[in-house]
Amino acid sequence: MTATGGAGAVAAGRIRHAGLARKVVPADAAAALIAPGDTVGMSGFTGSGYPKAVPEALASRISAAHAAGTPFRVNVWTGASTAPELDGVLAAADGIDLRLPYQSDPVTRRKINAGEMDYLDVHLSHVAQLAWEGFLGPLDVAVVEVSGITADGDLIPSSSVGNNKTWLDRADRVILEVNSWQTADLEGLHDIYYGTALPPDRRPIQLTAPGDRIGIPYLRCPEDKVVAVVETSSPDRNSRLAPPDETSRRIAGHLVEFLEHEVARGRLPERLLPLQSGVGNVANAVLAGLDVSGFQGLTAFTEVIQDGMFDLLTSGTVSVASATAFSLGPEAVVEFHDNAARYRDRIVLRPQEISNHPELVRRLGVLAMNGMIEADIYGNVNSTHLMGSRIQNGIGGSGDFARNAYLSFFLSPSTAKGGVISSIVPMVSHVDHTEHDVSVLVTEQGLADLRGLPPRKRARAVIEHCAHPDFRPLLQDYADRAEHRAYGRHTPHLLGEALSWHTRFLETGTMLPP
Ligand code: COA
Repeated sequence: MTATGGAGAVAAGRIRHAGLARKVVPADAAAALIAPGDTVGMSGFTGSGYPKAVPEALASRISAAHAAGTPFRVNVWTGASTAPELDGVLAAADGIDLRLPYQSDPVTRRKINAGEMDYLDVHLSHVAQLAWEGFLGPLDVAVVEVSGITADGDLIPSSSVGNNKTWLDRADRVILEVNSWQTADLEGLHDIYYGTALPPDRRPIQLTAPGDRIGIPYLRCPEDKVVAVVETSSPDRNSRLAPPDETSRRIAGHLVEFLEHEVARGRLPERLLPLQSGVGNVANAVLAGLDVSGFQGLTAFTEVIQDGMFDLLTSGTVSVASATAFSLGPEAVVEFHDNAARYRDRIVLRPQEISNHPELVRRLGVLAMNGMIEADIYGNVNSTHLMGSRIQNGIGGSGDFARNAYLSFFLSPSTAKGGVISSIVPMVSHVDHTEHDVSVLVTEQGLADLRGLPPRKRARAVIEHCAHPDFRPLLQDYADRAEHRAYGRHTPHLLGEALSWHTRFLETGTMLPP
């Protein structure tokens, strides 16, 4: 990574505005403008478009302050998860008091679960509104990576948009990182919509197809708010996803077969409806499955363009995709950088309040496909907590999409930890998506279409089609006994037993009975 200051900026072409070029400083000078107790809105969404130099410089200052016995912590708001150079270093320096709205960093996760860092797990479409309503207090500083600055001072967004518009609007002071590693061909790819407002001034968002552009290609920020500009030339940090294994391929196979069946029955159009695909290996495998299916001319209204979605764009199976961020592995990054101009008309990156907007997800009729930790026999889904109390990542955009989708799919292998945990349980240990928001559950065992089924029929479908054979008879036994002994027969549960599988795992290391 390089972080340099200097007068070469205008000549280098990434900072074409003379006034902002004069504000170029080294990263540690910029980090010195962040004070203990500040709330800092950082760019970044997955390993894309996060600031590469200032957070590390800030972490060094924090460590030095702690070594001198001076407390120094800040609140960190982002788009979503970031990378070791942001979350990792600040968490390791014990520099974060409150973190929101999503993370997937191992050090951060450990601190949160040890009770050493507060964490607000927020629907990603809600964050901008939360910042605007002011409930969480002021936003002191924004640290935002951009890929360039035009001669007029407009900011060319980077490989993610996230909450950057809101951070730039709300923050008292702004630090910009201009990253020349990002391709210059990003200019023109983004659609930054400036029409959002708090109620009662909200107006309909006039977007009726995933590829629509309703805003401008730039972020705006008054020049006098910018207190520092830092130059970097550092790669994004997205890791390679595992190639689909047999389990994910089977999950993908069930889902693709279901979609083909729905088309054949006339319940979905031949080009389907806009796809949303969540994070992780399984969701990526589903996209790979779609690429070898016969579907053509598909669209996506999703949160991230990960490798699987990028492959669909490359092959032409998906004609246009809307998202808020790239999340590409190393090979896909090279392909994109070499050919960005060709993808620019087929990819639109938007603020996350728009990419995940409930109004738009509902209007477009999105097919939402997200991973889960576990589901229960009635279709409630836990996406976030292991054994009810240990957070894995966060709800991310899964609620934005699942609650408002045309069809909402949740996918997972039927077991975890080498087969000792069942992903299908009598009752989920934490609820993120209620049975009312879940249309279809898919594991490698099969697919349960829960639409139109009352609770006891749902339980039968989930147990029969999704549970692993090692756990299926146990679940059936639970459902049978609950049906006869529960307080009511609508959604029968044995309350003393409903979470006993989790307790057994915690006590014995397996959900299987002795
Ligand atoms: N009980 C306990 N642990 C479980 C489990 C269960 N039922 N299911 C999985 N796990 C463990 C795994 O063993 C793994 O642990 P490890 O890291 O120690 O190996 C960990 O949880 C993650 O599981 P994995 O199978 O690797 O997850 P994934 O990459 O497929 O992601 C989610 C699954 C649910 C964590 C992920 O999809 C997520 O964070 N979802 C919420 C956000 C979201 O959906 N966003 C989408 C909008 S774009």
